[in-house]
Amino acid sequence: MQLGLLASTHEVGRDYWLGSPSGLQRIELEIGPGDCGFLIQTALRHRETLYVGIEIRPSSVERVVARPTLPDNFRLLAADGRWIVLNLLAADSIDAYHIYFPDPWWKKRHHKRRLVTDEFAAAAASTLRCGGCVLLATDVAPLFEEIAEILERAGLVKEPWVRDAADPACSSYERKYRRQGRSFAQAIFRKVAAQGE
Ligand SMILES: C[S@@+](CC[C@H](N)C(=O)[O-])C[C@H]1O[C@@H](n2cnc3c(N)ncnc32)[C@H](O)[C@@H]1O
Repeated sequence: MQLGLLASTHEVGRDYWLGSPSGLQRIELEIGPGDCGFLIQTALRHRETLYVGIEIRPSSVERVVARPTLPDNFRLLAADGRWIVLNLLAADSIDAYHIYFPDPWWKKRHHKRRLVTDEFAAAAASTLRCGGCVLLATDVAPLFEEIAEILERAGLVKEPWVRDAADPACSSYERKYRRQGRSFAQAIFRKVAAQGE
């Protein structure tokens, strides 16, 4: 990413992402991918899609980029995903956002640090292409309800989503919770019309 880009906003559109490798047709972003268990497995399976992780914790990023091989349709940015979505991405440019087990920030005074706020949801809705979606999973039931309300308020339409429990392409938290027999909630929130229609 060129530094000059950071001086201006909302410039990163599909041309930026889909330049290389050739043949890419879709862009999906995971915010807070941790060790990128979901993204890397999924990138190997869907070679026509660029999978971009945005992870704020440098130690997680360092562990992932130290791996000897990574799929060429996978990228990892060490950054605040919230900031990137709010400030950098072009409208109608992203096919899907994956948000899996976001930090709950339990204490009331820390709620403002939560990833999905009205401001974030509006930016996510605006940057999604029509038909694109936010895929959400969390084990924290009240947080799921809160995020669902926020995303619906931003105009995204909730759809049921049941993930295949045997799917190896899943995040570390999902794998851990399945092993422990813990339940979690999941749903898809779709952009069904261009904003303003
Ligand atoms: C509870 S972990 C879940 C990791 C992964 N999604 C999974 O399901 O295994 C939450 C992750 O989100 C990252 N994170 C929290 N806030 C973030 C932000 N604003 N931008 C990018 N990553 C963030 C944390 O560093 C952490 O890796």
